[in-house]
Amino acid sequence: MIDSARTPAAEDASGEASGAIRTSERGAEAGFLWDFWYPALRSSEIHGRQLVTAMLLEVPLVLGRTDKGAAFAMRNSCPHRGIPLSYGRFDGKNLECSYHGWKFDGCSGQCVEIPSLTSQDKLKVERIFAGHYPCEEHDGYLWVYMSAPGARVTEVESPAPRLATFSERYKKTHLACDLPSHIDHGIIGLMDPAHGPFVHQSWFWRSKKSIHEKAKQFEPIPYGFRMSTHSPSTNSAPYQLLKKMTGAAVTTTIDFTLPNMRTEEIRSGKLWFSSLTTVTPVRRDLSRIDFVAAWNVPLPVAVFRAFAKAFLKQDQQTMIQQAQGLRHDPRLMLIDDADRPAKWYFALKANLLESRRTGAEMVHPMDGPVTLRWRS
Ligand code: FES
Ligand SMILES: [Fe+2]
Repeated sequence: MIDSARTPAAEDASGEASGAIRTSERGAEAGFLWDFWYPALRSSEIHGRQLVTAMLLEVPLVLGRTDKGAAFAMRNSCPHRGIPLSYGRFDGKNLECSYHGWKFDGCSGQCVEIPSLTSQDKLKVERIFAGHYPCEEHDGYLWVYMSAPGARVTEVESPAPRLATFSERYKKTHLACDLPSHIDHGIIGLMDPAHGPFVHQSWFWRSKKSIHEKAKQFEPIPYGFRMSTHSPSTNSAPYQLLKKMTGAAVTTTIDFTLPNMRTEEIRSGKLWFSSLTTVTPVRRDLSRIDFVAAWNVPLPVAVFRAFAKAFLKQDQQTMIQQAQGLRHDPRLMLIDDADRPAKWYFALKANLLESRRTGAEMVHPMDGPVTLRWRS
């Protein structure tokens, strides 16, 4: 069966957004999923009272950390006349706008002072808020909950994602790379099982000749799907090595969950490796892969980073090339079974939006476990 898949990326890549339309309208048509956590920055990018800017889902943000250590994220625009708040001064608690000196509490966005007011003025300063988003800091990231545009009170249903770890001591590393792509292409690229032998040919991983038929079981999980726990492919040297070290079977579990997250857990006896990868929409034509991994297998950080960087670079290079083709708005297709995870992603996304629109429970696109077969 062949499905045509025309993603928002394909439609958006060619046209510039009109400056006249508001963020809320733009956000809806850009194919972003609101009301989820996204990593905005690495924790290490903020020092002391420094203000740092970032963009998520085409929303400009200013981020910082109070003297008490609480990370915060505000819309980088003064509610008075729109100058970026990042030009202002932060005293460790309040952010003062550089234009007329209005002051806002970093953690709540609430206005605490308007210097031009006289004792005659009746304006209720405390009723004014700068745009502000829930923020959590862990696993080396500032996570920001991107509530839907126009939503006043933000209800956060769940805490930000966390990297799973399985022992007290472990090594950890972060990597990131930009993709000149819509998030949808970033995500389906991330989950695509068939590109491995072509994009990731390396002496240390596998060659094109090692291609063989695979059957993997998948099962539905809330907001996503899981490649059920299995013993990973025998043609990869690192897995063989791990098995030799522990004498125990190696098992892998890979989950994808909306809006953008892939987690992988590899276990063998007491040894483990765990990773969390997200594809975050910066703009409709720019996404960023953030990758954090932790492990207690005897693998030096520098060695792992060298391999992982090479891997990511191969993906990035491919997506840069793909973006060239997508500029001309081609018709695309998704085939079974190799592209079935991509189909599930689009269905999950559509069903989530539908359930939010109607208030009905979200329908999962999978009825139960299924086995997919492909050659890679
Ligand atoms: S624009 Fe910020 S205080 Fe006027
Ligand atoms: Fe890849």
